[in-house]
Amino acid sequence: MTAAKLVVGNWKMNGSLVRVRAFADVVARDWPGCESVLCVPHPLLPAAQMAFGATPLRWGAQDCSAEDDGAFTGEVSARMIGELGARYVIIGHSERRLAHAETDGQIASKAQRALAAGLTPIVCVGENAEERDGEQTAMVLRRQLVQLVRALGRDLACVVIAYEPVWAIGTGAAAEPGLIERTHGFIADMLVFHAGPSASAVRILYGGSVNPRNAGVFLSCSRVAGLLVGGASLAPTDFMQICKAAAQCSDNAASVDGNTPIGQAS
Ligand code: PGA
Repeated sequence: MTAAKLVVGNWKMNGSLVRVRAFADVVARDWPGCESVLCVPHPLLPAAQMAFGATPLRWGAQDCSAEDDGAFTGEVSARMIGELGARYVIIGHSERRLAHAETDGQIASKAQRALAAGLTPIVCVGENAEERDGEQTAMVLRRQLVQLVRALGRDLACVVIAYEPVWAIGTGAAAEPGLIERTHGFIADMLVFHAGPSASAVRILYGGSVNPRNAGVFLSCSRVAGLLVGGASLAPTDFMQICKAAAQCSDNAASVDGNTPIGQAS
């Protein structure tokens, strides 16, 4: 895989209007030329549109409703997000799966809504520490992805998947490159097995304790199409450094020990 790498920032429930503007100033001064997106809380989307509209940085949301419209107090539809110029939306982040009991079926519906609104869904999958220790990673990933594959059919090719092992998120304990390479290989094979050859176009990102010091190692994995960055996306200089690493790696990806399968694609 030698396509341009994608870097996605996830601000989670952080940031402010002032912070969006400050971020845009750094982007305007120091753009490294890689494809990148900043996913902000819903109320900051208009500010992101204003601040990033004239820059190459794209913006997105961190969740959307599984419904089109109606009596769903507090929900935000994919169409509303699209009207604010966003092009991406993170879906099924582990924090939402855990804190909001989101199911794989709801996540598949959200991805459908996002695509219908012209957004690119970034669907997060990943095992927790207990599942990893019980060697259930393959089973968990298969369960998380199968409904998505069935719901989207050929549209699956338009989705971005983010492999984010839950034990690596916000812990400072990022996954080893060899494990990432093997797991990305498993996900890619599984998608093609269930959805056919067009699924080989799906970009698979890595996320979990990515920072400016380790980003280059992950980006040099041939199967890693980019990164989903949480904490390190809050500081614009850190985010820019990661984007620079992505711009450098885009054309010279190399394979890292990806030979030991984590499970059968079926
Ligand atoms: P982190 O978060 O980079 O702070 O580990 C990643 C994420 O939750 O998307």
